Amino acid sequence: MKTPSRRLLLAGVGASLLPFRRVQAAGLIATPQQTEGPFYPTSFPADMDNDLVQVRGQQAQAMGTVLHLEGRLLDLNGKPVDGALVEIWQCDAKGLYDHPRQPGRERRDSAFQGYGRMLVKADGHYSFRTLKPVAYAGRSPHIHFKVGTATGRSLTSQFYIAGDPGNELDGVFRGIRDPRQRELVEMKLVPAPGLEAGALATRMDIVVG
Ligand SMILES: [Fe+2]
Repeated sequence: MKTPSRRLLLAGVGASLLPFRRVQAAGLIATPQQTEGPFYPTSFPADMDNDLVQVRGQQAQAMGTVLHLEGRLLDLNGKPVDGALVEIWQCDAKGLYDHPRQPGRERRDSAFQGYGRMLVKADGHYSFRTLKPVAYAGRSPHIHFKVGTATGRSLTSQFYIAGDPGNELDGVFRGIRDPRQRELVEMKLVPAPGLEAGALATRMDIVVG
C-alpha cells in the first residue's frame, strides 16, 4: 500500500481547519458577556430615547462630559444584525444611578436620563448621546449595555474607557482575560468638536456570537 504523500496529508489538515479559518478571516470574536449588575432599571423613564444628555421637557442638560457613542451590531461573520434593540444605562456625573437600590438616589442629576434605547438601523448602526462614564465606589468608569436581536439572541455587557488606570483594579473588567475580548469593550475616546463643543466620541462595534 502506498503511503499518502505529504501533500495529501497537508491538504487534509487544511480542510479540517476551514470552518475555523472562515471565522478568523472575518477577524471577529464575540463581545464578551458581563454581569448586568444591580442597577438595570426597575421602571423605565418617560423619555428613553438615545439622547441621555437631554431629558424631554427639561431645559437643563445633564452635568458631565458629553460622549457620542456609536457603532454597528454585527454577527461573527461581520454581517450587520438588523432589527435588534440596544439599551444602555449608566450613573450620572456624581456616580448615582436612577434606581431604588442606589443610596442617595434623591441627590442624582435629574437632567440625566440614565437609560436609553434604540432599534438598530438596517445597516446595524446604533448611536447614543450620553456621558463619559465616571467611577463610583468599587468600579472603574463603565457604561452598561444590553442587546436583544429579532431572533432571540441576547448579549449583556459593559463598555470601559481604554487606558483607565481603574480598569486593572475592577473585578468585573478583570473577569475578561483575553486581550482581544478586552479590546471589544474598551472605548477609545477622541475629541469630537465637529459634533459638539467639548464632546468626546467613540466607535464601538458590538459582535453577537
Ligand atoms: Fe454599573
